[in-house]
Amino acid sequence: FFSSSASSSAAMSEVAPVVDAEYMAEIERARRDLRALIASKNCAPIMLRLAWHDAGTYDAKTKTGGPNGSIRFPQEYSHGANAGIKIAIDLLEPIKQKHPKITYADLYQLAGVVAVEVTGGPTIDFVAGRKDSSVCPEEGRLPDAKQGASHLRDVFYRMGLSDKDIVSLSGGHTLGRARPERSGFDGAWTKDPLKFDNSYFVELLKGDSEGLLKLPTDKALVEDPEFRRYVEIYAKDEEAFFRDYAESHKKLSELGFKPP
Ligand code: HEM
Repeated sequence: FFSSSASSSAAMSEVAPVVDAEYMAEIERARRDLRALIASKNCAPIMLRLAWHDAGTYDAKTKTGGPNGSIRFPQEYSHGANAGIKIAIDLLEPIKQKHPKITYADLYQLAGVVAVEVTGGPTIDFVAGRKDSSVCPEEGRLPDAKQGASHLRDVFYRMGLSDKDIVSLSGGHTLGRARPERSGFDGAWTKDPLKFDNSYFVELLKGDSEGLLKLPTDKALVEDPEFRRYVEIYAKDEEAFFRDYAESHKKLSELGFKPP
C-alpha cells in the first residue's frame, strides 16, 4: 500500500517521463525558447555550468547523483561549488512552467546543449527522458578548483569518465568567467567568453597571459603529460576538439541515464 512517508515519496518522485511524439514536440518548443532566452540574456555560460553541475555529481558505484534535476533544491544549489547557480535555475523556471511535461532533468541538460550551440560550438546529440529526483547528493562531489591532476581523476573517474573527457570537457571554460563573490577566483579564461571555440586550449599553452584566468585545475592539464597530449591536439585542431567535446558532453549529460 502507498504511504506518503518521506522515503517512499522520494522514490515515487523518480518517475520517467513518457517520451512520445508530444513530448518530443514539447522539447523542440523548449529548445526554441531556450535559444531566445540565452541570446537575449547572454547567459550561455551559466546555463552550461548548471547542466554540468547537475550532472557532475554522478557516482557510478552507487548510481546516485547525475543529471536528475536535484540541483533545483536549496539543499543542493546552496553547496559552495554551486554559488551563483540559482540565477540559472530561476531563468529556466518560466520555460519549465510553459512546458510542464518536460522534466527539470531534461530541461537543464537541454539548456546546456543549446548554450554550446548558440555560442558557436558543436551540435550535441540530445536524447530526452531523464527522470527528476528529489534526492540531493552530499556536498563535495564536484571538483575543487584548488587541487590538481589526481583530484580531477578521482572525481571524473568516479563518474565513469576518462582522461580525454576531463580535458575536452574542461574546454567548457571557453565560456564565461569566475567571480570573486562566487568562487573566489576572478576573470575569464579567454578573450571572448561568449564564443565557444578552442581558445581555452590555445591560452593554456601560452602560459600566464595578463588578464586571463587559469585555475590550478586548468594548469594541471598542461602539467600532467597524459592530459597535455589532448591539450596540444585541441589547441591545434578545433575540429578535433569539437568532435571530442560533443562526445564527452553527451556522456556527461547521460550519466546514469538509460534512454527509453
Ligand atoms: C566556471 C571550476 C569543469 C563550465 C567555473 C568556476 C570555477 C570552475 C571555480 C567559476 C565560478 C564562478 O566564480 O562563478 C571548475 C573545475 C572543473 C570545472 C574545478 C574541473 C575540471 C567544468 C566543466 C564545464 C565547466 C566540465 C562544462 C563542460 C564552466 C562554465 C563556467 C565555469 C561555463 C562559467 C560560468 C559563468 O560565467 O557564470 N568553473 N570547472 N566547468 N565552469 Fe567550470
